[in-house]
Amino acid sequence: MLNMEIEEELERRKLEEALEVKSLRRIISAYLNYPEAAEEDVKRWERSFRKLPPRHKALLSHLPLKFQKLRWCIAQNSYFIFEMLKVFEPPLDMSQDVDICENQHLDVASDSHHSSKSRNPYLCESTSTSGGVDCHSLAEPMSEETCYRKFRALTNVNEEQDVDILKKSNAGKCSISLEDHESANNIGDDGCKSLPDRDPLYASACCNGNVSSSSPDWLDPSLQLHVPLVDVDKVRCIIRNIVRDWAKEGQQERDQCYRPILEELERLFPNRSKENPPSCLVPGAGLGRLALEISCLGFACQGNEFSYYMMICSSFILNHAQAAGEWTIFPWIHSNCNSVSDNDQLRPVSVPDIHPASAGITEGFSMCGGDFVEVYSDPSQAGVWDAVVTCFFLDTAHNIVEYIEIISEVLKDGGVWINLGPLLYHFADMYSHEDEMSIELSLEDVKRVALQYGFIFEKESTIETTYTTNSRSMMQNRYYAAFWTMRKKTAATL
Ligand SMILES: C[S@@+](CC[C@H](N)C(=O)[O-])C[C@H]1O[C@@H](n2cnc3c(N)ncnc32)[C@H](O)[C@@H]1O
Repeated sequence: MLNMEIEEELERRKLEEALEVKSLRRIISAYLNYPEAAEEDVKRWERSFRKLPPRHKALLSHLPLKFQKLRWCIAQNSYFIFEMLKVFEPPLDMSQDVDICENQHLDVASDSHHSSKSRNPYLCESTSTSGGVDCHSLAEPMSEETCYRKFRALTNVNEEQDVDILKKSNAGKCSISLEDHESANNIGDDGCKSLPDRDPLYASACCNGNVSSSSPDWLDPSLQLHVPLVDVDKVRCIIRNIVRDWAKEGQQERDQCYRPILEELERLFPNRSKENPPSCLVPGAGLGRLALEISCLGFACQGNEFSYYMMICSSFILNHAQAAGEWTIFPWIHSNCNSVSDNDQLRPVSVPDIHPASAGITEGFSMCGGDFVEVYSDPSQAGVWDAVVTCFFLDTAHNIVEYIEIISEVLKDGGVWINLGPLLYHFADMYSHEDEMSIELSLEDVKRVALQYGFIFEKESTIETTYTTNSRSMMQNRYYAAFWTMRKKTAATL
Protein backbone atom coordinates (compact mmCIF):
# COMPACT_ATOMS: atom_id res chain seq x y z
CA MET A 1 0.00 0.00 0.00
CA LEU A 2 2.75 2.37 1.03
CA ASN A 3 4.75 1.44 -2.05
CA MET A 4 1.77 2.12 -4.23
CA GLU A 5 1.35 5.55 -2.69
CA ILE A 6 5.02 6.34 -3.25
CA GLU A 7 4.75 5.22 -6.85
CA GLU A 8 1.66 7.32 -7.39
CA GLU A 9 3.37 10.32 -5.89
CA LEU A 10 6.41 9.81 -8.10
CA GLU A 11 4.20 9.45 -11.15
CA ARG A 12 2.33 12.62 -10.22
CA ARG A 13 5.56 14.57 -9.83
CA LYS A 14 6.83 13.26 -13.15
CA LEU A 15 3.68 14.42 -14.86
CA GLU A 16 3.89 17.81 -13.23
CA GLU A 17 7.47 18.25 -14.29
CA ALA A 18 6.63 17.19 -17.84
CA LEU A 19 3.83 19.72 -17.84
CA GLU A 20 6.14 22.40 -16.64
CA VAL A 21 8.74 21.56 -19.29
CA LYS A 22 6.04 21.81 -21.92
CA SER A 23 4.95 25.14 -20.55
CA LEU A 24 8.48 26.47 -20.52
CA ARG A 25 9.06 25.23 -24.06
CA ARG A 26 5.98 27.11 -25.15
CA ILE A 27 7.27 30.32 -23.56
CA ILE A 28 10.71 29.92 -25.13
CA SER A 29 9.00 29.20 -28.45
CA ALA A 30 6.98 32.39 -28.06
CA TYR A 31 10.21 34.34 -27.66
CA LEU A 32 11.72 32.55 -30.67
CA ASN A 33 8.58 33.16 -32.73
CA TYR A 34 8.87 36.91 -32.16
CA PRO A 35 10.82 37.73 -35.36
CA GLU A 36 8.52 35.72 -37.59
CA ALA A 37 5.37 37.19 -36.06
CA ALA A 38 6.77 40.73 -36.31
CA GLU A 39 7.77 40.09 -39.94
CA GLU A 40 4.20 38.96 -40.65
CA ASP A 41 2.96 42.34 -39.45
CA VAL A 42 5.36 44.19 -41.74
CA LYS A 43 4.29 41.99 -44.67
CA ARG A 44 0.65 42.82 -43.90
CA TRP A 45 1.43 46.55 -43.89
CA GLU A 46 3.31 46.11 -47.19
CA ARG A 47 0.37 44.25 -48.74
CA SER A 48 -1.95 47.11 -47.84
CA PHE A 49 0.50 49.60 -49.29
CA ARG A 50 0.69 47.61 -52.55
CA LYS A 51 -3.11 47.78 -52.88
CA LEU A 52 -3.00 51.57 -53.02
CA PRO A 53 -3.71 53.26 -56.37
CA PRO A 54 -0.50 54.75 -57.88
CA ARG A 55 -1.51 58.35 -57.06
CA HIS A 56 -1.81 57.47 -53.38
CA LYS A 57 1.39 55.45 -53.42
CA ALA A 58 3.19 58.46 -54.87
CA LEU A 59 2.12 60.50 -51.85
CA LEU A 60 3.51 57.88 -49.50
CA SER A 61 6.71 56.98 -51.25
CA HIS A 62 8.61 56.95 -47.95
CA LEU A 63 6.72 53.94 -46.64
CA PRO A 64 8.79 51.18 -48.34
CA LEU A 65 11.86 52.55 -46.59
CA LYS A 66 9.97 52.61 -43.31
CA PHE A 67 9.13 48.93 -43.79
CA GLN A 68 12.80 48.15 -44.29
CA LYS A 69 13.70 50.11 -41.19
CA LEU A 70 11.07 48.22 -39.25
CA ARG A 71 12.67 44.97 -40.34
CA TRP A 72 16.00 46.12 -39.13
CA CYS A 73 14.53 47.11 -35.76
CA ILE A 74 12.87 43.69 -35.51
CA ALA A 75 16.26 42.12 -36.10
CA GLN A 76 17.74 44.17 -33.27
CA ASN A 77 14.95 43.20 -30.88
CA SER A 78 15.46 39.59 -31.96
CA TYR A 79 19.14 39.88 -31.22
CA PHE A 80 18.35 41.03 -27.67
CA ILE A 81 15.85 38.20 -27.21
CA PHE A 82 18.25 35.60 -28.47
CA GLU A 83 21.08 36.84 -26.29
CA MET A 84 18.69 36.54 -23.37
CA LEU A 85 17.68 32.99 -24.22
CA LYS A 86 21.26 31.87 -24.72
CA VAL A 87 22.15 32.56 -21.11
CA PHE A 88 18.92 31.25 -19.67
CA GLU A 89 19.44 28.08 -17.75
CA PRO A 90 16.17 26.20 -17.62
CA PRO A 91 15.41 25.02 -14.11
CA LEU A 92 14.19 21.74 -15.59
CA ASP A 93 15.54 19.06 -17.86
CA MET A 94 14.25 20.39 -21.18
CA SER A 95 15.23 17.26 -23.07
CA GLN A 96 12.57 15.11 -21.44
CA ASP A 97 9.69 13.71 -23.40
CA VAL A 98 6.64 15.83 -22.71
CA ASP A 99 4.17 13.79 -24.77
CA ILE A 100 3.35 12.21 -21.48
CA CYS A 101 1.20 15.26 -20.73
CA GLU A 102 -1.03 14.63 -23.71
CA ASN A 103 -1.67 11.11 -22.62
CA GLN A 104 -2.52 12.14 -19.14
CA HIS A 105 -4.74 15.06 -20.16
CA LEU A 106 -2.78 17.32 -17.94
CA ASP A 107 -2.09 20.03 -20.42
CA VAL A 108 -5.57 21.50 -20.53
CA ALA A 109 -5.67 25.22 -20.27
CA SER A 110 -7.04 26.34 -17.00
CA ASP A 111 -6.29 29.40 -15.03
CA SER A 112 -5.58 27.91 -11.71
CA HIS A 113 -2.02 27.65 -10.68
CA HIS A 114 -0.85 24.25 -11.54
CA SER A 115 2.07 23.85 -9.31
CA SER A 116 2.49 21.00 -7.00
CA LYS A 117 2.04 21.44 -3.32
CA SER A 118 4.77 18.91 -2.85
CA ARG A 119 7.42 20.95 -4.58
CA ASN A 120 9.69 22.99 -2.51
CA PRO A 121 8.46 26.51 -2.99
CA TYR A 122 11.60 28.04 -1.57
CA LEU A 123 13.98 27.47 -4.33
CA CYS A 124 15.11 31.03 -4.22
CA GLU A 125 18.75 31.75 -4.03
CA SER A 126 19.98 34.92 -2.50
CA THR A 127 22.30 37.20 -4.28
CA SER A 128 25.94 37.12 -3.72
CA THR A 129 27.49 40.30 -2.52
CA SER A 130 29.36 40.50 -5.77
CA GLY A 131 26.30 41.92 -7.30
CA GLY A 132 24.38 39.52 -9.51
CA VAL A 133 21.03 38.18 -8.53
CA ASP A 134 21.14 34.44 -8.60
CA CYS A 135 17.70 33.55 -8.96
CA HIS A 136 14.64 32.82 -10.43
CA SER A 137 12.36 31.54 -13.01
CA LEU A 138 8.32 32.22 -15.02
CA ALA A 139 4.52 35.02 -17.63
CA GLU A 140 3.00 38.53 -18.41
CA PRO A 141 2.50 41.78 -20.29
CA MET A 142 0.39 45.44 -26.55
CA SER A 143 -1.29 48.49 -25.42
CA GLU A 144 -0.92 49.81 -21.95
CA GLU A 145 -4.17 48.57 -20.49
CA THR A 146 -4.16 45.43 -22.58
CA CYS A 147 -0.62 44.92 -21.65
CA TYR A 148 -1.31 45.37 -18.00
CA ARG A 149 -4.48 43.36 -17.84
CA LYS A 150 -4.48 40.79 -20.57
CA PHE A 151 -1.18 39.26 -19.96
CA ARG A 152 -2.28 37.39 -16.95
CA ALA A 153 -5.69 36.62 -18.36
CA LEU A 154 -4.18 35.28 -21.55
CA THR A 155 -1.75 33.13 -19.74
CA ASN A 156 -2.69 29.53 -19.72
CA VAL A 157 -2.24 27.42 -16.70
CA ASN A 158 0.92 25.95 -18.05
CA GLU A 159 2.65 29.27 -17.83
CA GLU A 160 1.43 29.99 -14.37
CA GLN A 161 3.04 27.32 -12.43
CA ASP A 162 5.35 28.08 -9.70
CA VAL A 163 8.83 28.40 -10.89
CA ASP A 164 12.09 27.30 -9.65
CA ILE A 165 15.18 29.34 -9.98
CA LEU A 166 16.98 30.69 -12.98
CA LYS A 167 20.59 30.40 -12.11
CA LYS A 168 23.51 32.25 -13.58
CA SER A 169 24.46 30.51 -16.75
CA ASN A 170 27.13 30.19 -19.38
CA ALA A 171 26.55 32.09 -22.55
CA GLY A 172 26.48 30.12 -25.75
CA LYS A 173 26.94 31.77 -29.12
CA CYS A 174 24.29 33.11 -31.38
CA SER A 175 24.76 32.97 -35.09
CA ILE A 176 23.91 36.66 -35.25
CA SER A 177 27.21 38.33 -35.77
CA LEU A 178 28.69 40.92 -33.51
CA GLU A 179 28.36 43.24 -36.41
CA ASP A 180 24.63 43.21 -35.91
CA HIS A 181 25.06 44.18 -32.32
CA GLU A 182 27.37 46.97 -33.20
CA SER A 183 25.08 48.21 -35.88
CA ALA A 184 22.40 48.30 -33.26
CA ASN A 185 24.56 50.48 -31.11
CA ASN A 186 25.34 52.78 -34.00
CA ILE A 187 21.76 53.64 -34.61
CA GLY A 188 21.07 57.32 -35.06
CA ASP A 189 18.69 59.47 -33.11
CA ASP A 190 16.13 59.19 -35.82
CA GLY A 191 15.95 55.51 -35.11
CA CYS A 192 17.59 53.91 -38.10
CA LYS A 193 20.20 55.97 -39.90
CA SER A 194 22.77 53.29 -40.39
CA LEU A 195 20.85 50.47 -41.93
CA PRO A 196 23.04 47.47 -42.56
CA ASP A 197 23.66 47.06 -46.26
CA ARG A 198 23.03 43.34 -46.24
CA ASP A 199 19.73 41.57 -45.98
CA PRO A 200 18.06 43.08 -42.92
CA LEU A 201 16.19 39.86 -42.41
CA TYR A 202 19.38 38.01 -41.84
CA ALA A 203 19.41 38.37 -38.11
CA SER A 204 15.75 37.75 -37.57
CA ALA A 205 15.85 34.63 -39.71
CA CYS A 206 18.85 33.57 -37.71
CA CYS A 207 16.96 33.79 -34.49
CA ASN A 208 13.88 32.18 -35.87
CA GLY A 209 14.82 28.60 -35.86
CA ASN A 210 18.23 28.42 -37.43
CA VAL A 211 19.90 28.33 -34.11
CA SER A 212 23.61 27.80 -34.33
CA SER A 213 25.21 24.65 -32.98
CA SER A 214 26.79 26.61 -30.14
CA SER A 215 23.38 27.48 -28.72
CA PRO A 216 22.08 25.51 -25.79
CA ASP A 217 20.48 22.20 -26.76
CA TRP A 218 17.12 23.20 -25.42
CA LEU A 219 16.98 25.89 -28.14
CA ASP A 220 17.05 23.12 -30.73
CA PRO A 221 14.45 24.15 -33.36
CA SER A 222 13.06 20.63 -33.46
CA LEU A 223 11.97 21.04 -29.85
CA GLN A 224 10.14 24.26 -30.53
CA LEU A 225 6.40 24.47 -30.55
CA HIS A 226 4.13 26.38 -32.83
CA VAL A 227 2.60 28.94 -30.49
CA PRO A 228 -0.51 31.06 -30.89
CA LEU A 229 0.00 34.76 -31.66
CA VAL A 230 -1.27 35.72 -28.21
CA ASP A 231 1.89 34.17 -26.82
CA VAL A 232 4.01 36.40 -29.00
CA ASP A 233 1.94 39.37 -27.81
CA LYS A 234 3.20 38.57 -24.36
CA VAL A 235 6.76 38.91 -25.63
CA ARG A 236 5.87 42.36 -27.02
CA CYS A 237 4.43 43.28 -23.64
CA ILE A 238 7.65 42.19 -21.99
CA ILE A 239 9.50 44.57 -24.31
CA ARG A 240 7.28 47.42 -23.06
CA ASN A 241 7.89 46.34 -19.49
CA ILE A 242 11.62 46.58 -20.14
CA VAL A 243 11.12 50.28 -20.84
CA ARG A 244 9.12 50.71 -17.61
CA ASP A 245 11.76 49.08 -15.47
CA TRP A 246 15.07 49.37 -17.23
CA ALA A 247 15.16 52.39 -19.55
CA LYS A 248 15.64 56.09 -19.02
CA GLU A 249 12.34 56.51 -20.85
CA GLY A 250 10.62 54.64 -18.02
CA GLN A 251 11.87 57.10 -15.42
CA GLN A 252 8.63 59.09 -15.40
CA GLU A 253 6.57 55.98 -14.70
CA ARG A 254 9.02 54.84 -12.10
CA ASP A 255 8.86 58.28 -10.47
CA GLN A 256 5.08 57.98 -10.38
CA CYS A 257 4.90 54.42 -9.10
CA TYR A 258 8.12 53.39 -7.46
CA ARG A 259 9.35 56.65 -5.95
CA PRO A 260 6.37 57.14 -3.56
CA ILE A 261 6.87 53.58 -2.35
CA LEU A 262 10.59 54.08 -1.83
CA GLU A 263 10.02 57.36 0.01
CA GLU A 264 7.47 55.66 2.23
CA LEU A 265 9.90 52.84 3.05
CA GLU A 266 12.58 55.36 3.93
CA ARG A 267 10.18 57.23 6.22
CA LEU A 268 8.98 54.07 7.94
CA PHE A 269 12.42 52.51 8.43
CA PRO A 270 14.69 55.45 9.20
CA ASN A 271 17.33 53.46 11.07
CA ARG A 272 18.29 50.72 8.65
CA SER A 273 21.44 48.86 9.53
CA LYS A 274 23.63 47.00 7.05
CA GLU A 275 24.21 44.22 9.57
CA ASN A 276 20.54 43.62 10.19
CA PRO A 277 18.58 45.16 7.36
CA PRO A 278 14.79 45.18 7.51
CA SER A 279 13.21 42.59 5.24
CA CYS A 280 10.87 43.48 2.40
CA LEU A 281 8.83 41.23 0.12
CA VAL A 282 7.66 42.41 -3.32
CA PRO A 283 5.04 40.03 -4.76
CA GLY A 284 4.47 40.34 -8.52
CA ALA A 285 7.87 41.93 -8.93
CA GLY A 286 7.74 41.98 -12.74
CA LEU A 287 11.16 42.77 -14.19
CA GLY A 288 12.66 43.43 -10.78
CA ARG A 289 13.46 47.15 -10.79
CA LEU A 290 11.36 48.05 -7.76
CA ALA A 291 12.84 45.15 -5.79
CA LEU A 292 16.33 46.25 -6.79
CA GLU A 293 15.65 49.84 -5.74
CA ILE A 294 14.32 48.64 -2.38
CA SER A 295 17.43 46.54 -1.94
CA CYS A 296 19.61 49.55 -2.74
CA LEU A 297 17.77 51.52 -0.03
CA GLY A 298 19.10 49.06 2.54
CA PHE A 299 16.48 46.34 2.73
CA ALA A 300 16.93 42.59 2.48
CA CYS A 301 14.50 42.43 -0.40
CA GLN A 302 12.91 39.48 -2.15
CA GLY A 303 10.94 39.89 -5.36
CA ASN A 304 8.39 37.19 -6.14
CA GLU A 305 7.23 36.55 -9.66
CA PHE A 306 5.45 33.64 -11.30
CA SER A 307 5.85 34.47 -14.97
CA TYR A 308 8.61 32.73 -16.87
CA TYR A 309 8.40 35.47 -19.49
CA MET A 310 9.23 38.00 -16.80
CA MET A 311 11.73 35.86 -14.95
CA ILE A 312 13.79 35.00 -18.03
CA CYS A 313 14.07 38.69 -18.85
CA SER A 314 14.71 39.99 -15.32
CA SER A 315 17.34 37.33 -14.76
CA PHE A 316 19.08 38.43 -17.96
CA ILE A 317 19.16 42.08 -16.97
CA LEU A 318 19.94 41.59 -13.29
CA ASN A 319 22.56 38.89 -13.72
CA HIS A 320 24.06 39.42 -17.13
CA ALA A 321 24.11 43.15 -17.88
CA GLN A 322 27.75 44.21 -18.07
CA ALA A 323 27.14 47.93 -18.35
CA ALA A 324 24.45 50.56 -18.54
CA GLY A 325 23.14 51.01 -22.07
CA GLU A 326 24.51 47.68 -23.21
CA TRP A 327 21.56 46.84 -25.45
CA THR A 328 19.37 48.79 -27.84
CA ILE A 329 15.79 47.77 -28.37
CA PHE A 330 12.91 49.21 -30.39
CA PRO A 331 9.88 48.82 -28.16
CA TRP A 332 7.34 50.85 -30.13
CA ILE A 333 7.64 49.35 -33.61
CA HIS A 334 4.77 46.90 -33.29
CA SER A 335 1.94 49.36 -33.72
CA ASN A 336 1.37 52.06 -36.34
CA CYS A 337 -1.46 53.51 -34.28
CA ASN A 338 -1.35 56.88 -32.52
CA SER A 339 2.13 57.78 -33.75
CA VAL A 340 2.86 61.45 -34.19
CA SER A 341 5.79 60.58 -36.45
CA ASP A 342 7.50 57.51 -37.86
CA ASN A 343 10.62 58.57 -36.01
CA ASP A 344 8.75 58.23 -32.73
CA GLN A 345 7.70 54.73 -33.65
CA LEU A 346 11.22 53.77 -34.72
CA ARG A 347 13.09 55.36 -31.86
CA PRO A 348 15.67 53.24 -30.07
CA VAL A 349 15.76 52.72 -26.35
CA SER A 350 18.94 51.85 -24.48
CA VAL A 351 18.77 49.31 -21.71
CA PRO A 352 19.50 49.00 -18.91
CA ASP A 353 19.65 52.62 -17.74
CA ILE A 354 21.83 51.52 -14.82
CA HIS A 355 24.22 48.65 -14.29
CA PRO A 356 22.27 46.55 -11.76
CA ALA A 357 25.32 44.85 -10.28
CA SER A 358 26.88 48.23 -9.48
CA ALA A 359 23.71 49.78 -8.13
CA GLY A 360 24.56 49.05 -4.51
CA ILE A 361 22.24 46.23 -3.59
CA THR A 362 21.96 45.04 0.00
CA GLU A 363 22.90 41.48 0.81
CA GLY A 364 19.92 39.19 0.72
CA PHE A 365 18.46 40.44 -2.54
CA SER A 366 16.70 37.62 -4.35
CA MET A 367 13.98 36.93 -6.86
CA CYS A 368 11.77 34.01 -6.00
CA GLY A 369 9.89 32.28 -8.80
CA GLY A 370 6.47 30.94 -7.98
CA ASP A 371 2.85 31.70 -7.32
CA PHE A 372 2.55 34.15 -4.44
CA VAL A 373 -0.30 32.18 -2.91
CA GLU A 374 1.53 28.88 -2.99
CA VAL A 375 4.90 30.11 -1.92
CA TYR A 376 3.92 32.49 0.87
CA SER A 377 1.00 30.61 2.40
CA ASP A 378 3.54 28.12 3.67
CA PRO A 379 3.64 28.21 7.49
CA SER A 380 7.39 28.86 7.42
CA GLN A 381 6.62 32.30 5.97
CA ALA A 382 4.39 33.40 8.82
CA GLY A 383 5.54 36.60 10.53
CA VAL A 384 8.77 36.73 8.53
CA TRP A 385 8.63 40.12 6.77
CA ASP A 386 9.01 43.68 8.08
CA ALA A 387 7.38 45.10 4.96
CA VAL A 388 5.36 43.89 1.98
CA VAL A 389 5.20 46.09 -1.10
CA THR A 390 2.57 45.47 -3.78
CA CYS A 391 2.71 47.56 -6.94
CA PHE A 392 0.14 46.85 -9.67
CA PHE A 393 -0.28 43.43 -8.15
CA LEU A 394 -3.40 43.13 -5.98
CA ASP A 395 -5.77 42.86 -8.95
CA THR A 396 -3.88 39.89 -10.37
CA ALA A 397 -5.67 37.74 -7.80
CA HIS A 398 -8.33 35.18 -8.43
CA ASN A 399 -9.30 35.86 -4.85
CA ILE A 400 -8.07 39.19 -3.57
CA VAL A 401 -9.18 38.28 -0.05
CA GLU A 402 -6.70 35.44 -0.09
CA TYR A 403 -3.92 37.81 -1.15
CA ILE A 404 -4.75 40.16 1.75
CA GLU A 405 -4.90 37.25 4.15
CA ILE A 406 -1.47 36.02 3.09
CA ILE A 407 0.04 39.52 3.20
CA SER A 408 -1.22 39.84 6.77
CA GLU A 409 0.13 36.41 7.71
CA VAL A 410 3.62 36.90 6.33
CA LEU A 411 4.07 40.29 8.02
CA LYS A 412 5.56 40.56 11.46
CA ASP A 413 3.34 42.15 14.07
CA GLY A 414 3.70 45.88 13.50
CA GLY A 415 4.95 45.24 9.95
CA VAL A 416 3.87 47.50 7.09
CA TRP A 417 2.05 46.90 3.81
CA ILE A 418 2.56 49.52 1.11
CA ASN A 419 0.31 49.17 -1.91
CA LEU A 420 0.06 51.14 -5.13
CA GLY A 421 -2.19 50.16 -8.00
CA PRO A 422 -5.60 50.08 -9.65
CA LEU A 423 -8.25 47.37 -9.42
CA LEU A 424 -8.27 46.19 -13.02
CA TYR A 425 -9.02 42.63 -12.09
CA HIS A 426 -7.04 40.41 -14.41
CA PHE A 427 -9.57 37.60 -14.40
CA ALA A 428 -12.65 39.81 -14.70
CA ASP A 429 -13.24 38.98 -18.36
CA MET A 430 -12.42 35.32 -18.27
CA TYR A 431 -16.07 34.47 -18.85
CA SER A 432 -15.18 31.71 -21.30
CA HIS A 433 -13.85 29.61 -18.46
CA GLU A 434 -16.70 28.44 -16.30
CA ASP A 435 -14.44 27.28 -13.53
CA GLU A 436 -12.62 30.57 -13.41
CA MET A 437 -12.82 32.38 -10.15
CA SER A 438 -12.54 36.12 -9.96
CA ILE A 439 -13.49 38.06 -6.88
CA GLU A 440 -13.80 41.69 -7.96
CA LEU A 441 -14.15 44.03 -4.99
CA SER A 442 -14.46 47.77 -4.91
CA LEU A 443 -11.70 49.74 -3.25
CA GLU A 444 -13.97 50.28 -0.26
CA ASP A 445 -14.48 46.55 0.12
CA VAL A 446 -10.77 45.85 -0.26
CA LYS A 447 -10.05 48.26 2.57
CA ARG A 448 -12.79 46.75 4.73
CA VAL A 449 -11.32 43.29 4.23
CA ALA A 450 -7.87 44.59 5.16
CA LEU A 451 -9.23 45.96 8.45
CA GLN A 452 -10.65 42.50 9.20
CA TYR A 453 -7.17 41.06 8.79
CA GLY A 454 -5.75 43.31 11.47
CA PHE A 455 -4.50 46.20 9.36
CA ILE A 456 -4.66 49.81 10.46
CA PHE A 457 -4.53 52.58 7.87
CA GLU A 458 -1.62 54.94 8.27
CA LYS A 459 -1.72 56.82 5.00
CA GLU A 460 -3.89 56.86 1.93
CA SER A 461 -3.92 58.81 -1.33
CA THR A 462 -4.52 58.51 -5.06
CA ILE A 463 -1.68 58.54 -7.56
CA GLU A 464 -2.19 59.35 -11.21
CA THR A 465 0.02 57.17 -13.34
CA THR A 466 0.48 55.18 -16.52
CA TYR A 467 1.62 51.61 -17.04
CA THR A 468 4.10 50.67 -19.79
CA THR A 469 3.00 53.71 -21.77
CA ASN A 470 4.63 54.99 -24.91
CA SER A 471 5.17 58.56 -23.77
CA ARG A 472 5.01 59.84 -27.38
CA SER A 473 1.79 58.05 -28.24
CA MET A 474 -1.41 59.99 -28.99
CA MET A 475 -3.17 57.58 -26.63
CA GLN A 476 -2.25 57.49 -22.97
CA ASN A 477 -4.23 55.42 -20.53
CA ARG A 478 -4.11 56.83 -17.04
CA TYR A 479 -4.82 55.11 -13.79
CA TYR A 480 -5.89 56.80 -10.59
CA ALA A 481 -4.14 54.26 -8.47
CA ALA A 482 -4.82 53.68 -4.80
CA PHE A 483 -1.75 54.24 -2.67
CA TRP A 484 -1.74 53.26 0.95
CA THR A 485 0.34 52.31 3.91
CA MET A 486 -1.24 49.94 6.40
CA ARG A 487 0.29 48.51 9.52
CA LYS A 488 -0.43 45.11 10.92
CA LYS A 489 -1.59 45.49 14.50
CA THR A 490 0.77 44.17 17.11
CA ALA A 491 -0.48 41.20 19.15
CA ALA A 492 -1.22 43.55 22.07
CA THR A 493 -3.54 45.75 20.05
CA LEU A 494 -5.33 42.92 18.28
C1 LIG B 1 0.86 44.25 -13.72
S1 LIG B 1 2.38 43.40 -13.39
C2 LIG B 1 3.22 44.54 -12.29
C3 LIG B 1 4.69 44.28 -12.23
C4 LIG B 1 5.47 45.26 -11.35
N1 LIG B 1 5.06 45.18 -9.99
C5 LIG B 1 5.32 46.67 -11.87
O1 LIG B 1 4.74 47.50 -11.17
O2 LIG B 1 5.77 46.92 -13.02
C6 LIG B 1 1.84 42.13 -12.28
C7 LIG B 1 2.92 41.12 -12.06
O3 LIG B 1 2.49 40.17 -11.10
C8 LIG B 1 2.83 38.86 -11.56
N2 LIG B 1 1.89 37.94 -10.93
C9 LIG B 1 0.55 37.81 -11.20
N3 LIG B 1 0.01 36.88 -10.40
C10 LIG B 1 1.01 36.41 -9.61
C11 LIG B 1 1.07 35.45 -8.59
N4 LIG B 1 0.00 34.79 -8.23
N5 LIG B 1 2.25 35.23 -8.00
C12 LIG B 1 3.37 35.92 -8.36
N6 LIG B 1 3.37 36.84 -9.33
C13 LIG B 1 2.21 37.09 -9.95
C14 LIG B 1 2.68 38.94 -13.06
O4 LIG B 1 3.39 37.92 -13.71
C15 LIG B 1 3.24 40.33 -13.33
O5 LIG B 1 4.62 40.30 -13.52
